[in-house]
Parts: sequence; structure tokens; C-alpha cells
Amino acid sequence: MSFLSATLARVKPSPTIAVTTKARELKAAGKDVIGLGAGEPDFDTPQNVKDAAKAAIDRGETKYTAVDGLPELKAAICDKFKRDNNLSYTPAQISVGSGGKQTLYNALMATLNPGDEVIIPAPYWVSYPDMVLLAGGTPVIVEAGIETAFKLTPQALEAAITPKTKWFIFNSPSNPTGAGYTRDEVKALTDVLMRHPHVWVMSDDMYEKLVYDDFVFSTPAEVEPGLYDRTLTCNGVSKAYAMTGWRIGYAAGPAHLIKAMGTLQSQSTSNPSSIAQWAAVEALNGPQDFIAANNAVFKRRRDMVVDMLNAAPGITCPVPEGAFYVYPSIAGCIGKTSAGGTKIENDEAFATALLEEKGVAVVFGAAFGLSPAFRVSYATSDENLREACTRIQEFCATLT
Ligand SMILES: Cc1ncc(COP(=O)(O)O)c(C=O)c1O
Repeated sequence: MSFLSATLARVKPSPTIAVTTKARELKAAGKDVIGLGAGEPDFDTPQNVKDAAKAAIDRGETKYTAVDGLPELKAAICDKFKRDNNLSYTPAQISVGSGGKQTLYNALMATLNPGDEVIIPAPYWVSYPDMVLLAGGTPVIVEAGIETAFKLTPQALEAAITPKTKWFIFNSPSNPTGAGYTRDEVKALTDVLMRHPHVWVMSDDMYEKLVYDDFVFSTPAEVEPGLYDRTLTCNGVSKAYAMTGWRIGYAAGPAHLIKAMGTLQSQSTSNPSSIAQWAAVEALNGPQDFIAANNAVFKRRRDMVVDMLNAAPGITCPVPEGAFYVYPSIAGCIGKTSAGGTKIENDEAFATALLEEKGVAVVFGAAFGLSPAFRVSYATSDENLREACTRIQEFCATLT
């Protein structure tokens, strides 16, 4: 009999973390490697947020807190939802966890039974299908390809819904494509959901603040108030406030679901770090102007990366609305052979050859459920990006 559980056998380790680790190892071994796999801003946490954490330590805020969040943080989150999304929640409708990942996981664990289906548009954030599997549910993957700018169409959503559908996971702007849904595009999906009252929406708004040009962010419960009672609106401070290591995420939804998520958390991790929670209070209540400053840098990088990748033979790279990723198609490279002799049969072969021959680490599309493509994170310096894209151009130009 296996020592490890059958549950564990259903999931795989995160492929994005695997790429980052591989790139780090090659670098440590002295190879000239540029990593474009990171899922976190390269900016530092703002000083006022760090100061708030230090002050919390000095005040002795170092004890257990309420399991699913300090009252002060819940109040700051309620204010944020009102201010940014025109959504009214009470503190009893808010759950704070150790990162956005934990709140999403809690919600799935608290609601899924064997046979329950969860609709996940592909390409997807790598953790959604595995979290669904860990919770005993069945992921239903629906492709949203480059032809529809990586956005799920209402027809595809409607066709995927069955009597067993419990959740629809919605992520805009998206990891890995950066695609952001306009208000009309969100409305087209919520119109479908209004016809299926048994389906709940898990909206992962983690990249809400990272949007460019004149894109306006919208979230389902805001666009369609009729879905308020069956929507869990998820967000966090990790990406917008460059706080990935602090581990604070939060979700808002019906009180009975929030209570169940808290019960689960009370028997696993208890409260997120008290110090990180006080830092998050400052992040949400304090000055927000550095977000625009960071976004100006991200936009400049996005534009450069898109231009340079589109100049590489065989690559087509759409311009995304947000996040810090682009998701170029490599359909034009498939079937060719690299200068080092690797046959590019799929996107994993492409990424492996690119890393080995040119020292550029990207995550291949199959990891996100949509091939042939790869994900570039542009959360790294302009110089790194220029050099990496030059190497990708060289790599593609020498495919035969
Ligand atoms: C779409 C999406 N949701 C949630 C998360 C999780 O964020 P956190 O670091 O707060 O757990 C990530 C992190 O990569 C993400 O890309």
C-alpha cells in the first residue's frame, strides 16, 4: 500500500515554480540564464507598508488574531470593495487567508463534493485544476484561444454548463495571458450565468490594479448584481502592492460560505500572519499613487516585449490588457528543428531548447492548458527583457 495518499496522486507540482527553480539552478551553476518565469512584480514593497509592519511589531501585534482576519483589515477590505468595485460587503462576508491561493483553496474545499464540476477557461492559472482535484471535484476545461483574444465566449460557457456544474472560475486580467474582459464581455458571460441559477462564480481579481492604456476593470458581481448571492469575489495584496512574500489574500461573498471557509482555515493554518495583516491594512488604506507609477513601467515593458516577439519568425503575440504576462503563439515554429538539433514538436520542446541553447527560461503553454504557446513574465528589468527577446528572435530565426 502506498504511504502517500490517493489525493496527492491526483495533482502535480506547480510547473511555473519548476521553471523558476530550474533557471535558478542553471544560474547557480554559472550559466548565463535570463528567467522570464516569475509570477511576481520585481518592485519592492512600498515603504509605508513596510513601516506599518514594523510599527505593528513594536506595538506587540504579534499574537493570534481572529482566524479569518483582523477587524481592522476586514474594514479596510469592505472599504476597498465599495471604493473600487461599488460592491457592499459587511465584515461577516469577508475572509482573509495566507495569500489569494489559500482563500481560493478554502472555497473549493468548503464546497466541492465528488462529481461536482468546475468550469475553468484555458489557458488557466496552473493552480485552478489541481486545487479542484485536491478538493475532490472535476475540472471542466474550456478553451479560449488566440482567435477570441484568450477570452471565453458566452456560447462556450453555456455549452460547458451541466447539472453538475458548481463553480465557474473567472480570472481577468488573466494569468497567463494578461487578457482583460471589458464590461460588455463580462456582461455577456453573466447573462449566461443568470440562466443557470445553480452555478456559482469564483472571480479571481488578483490583477485588478495592473491594467494598461484605457482599460477599465470590471468584476461579475458589480456588472450583474443578480449574481451577488452566488459570487465569491477574490483578491489580494500580492501583485498590486508587490507583497507576494507577505501572504495576504481575501475573498468576499455570502456569509454562509465565508463562515465555512473560516471553519476550514481554523483547522489548518488559523490566522494569516498578524504582522502581514497590519501591513495589508496600510496597503489598502494608504496612498495608492505608486500603482500608477509601477504600471507605467509595466506598460512600457509590455509594449517592448510584444513588438520584439512579433518580430521573431513563427511567433504571434497579441497585446494584452493587463497583468504582467504575454502569451505568444508559436504555431509557426512547430515541426521545425532548432540550431542545436531539437525537433520542435510541441511547446515543451520549444521551451526546453530555448533554455538549453539560448539560456532563456519561459513556461510552456501546455502547463496552462493551451498550446502551442509560452508565457513570458515581463516583471523583470528592461535590459533583461531586451536581451531575452533578442535571444528568442535569434532562436526562431535559426529554426529550419
Ligand atoms: C491568477 C492568480 N490568482 C491567485 C494567485 C495567488 O496569489 P497569492 O500569491 O496571493 O497566493 C496568483 C499568483 O500567481 C495568480 O496568478
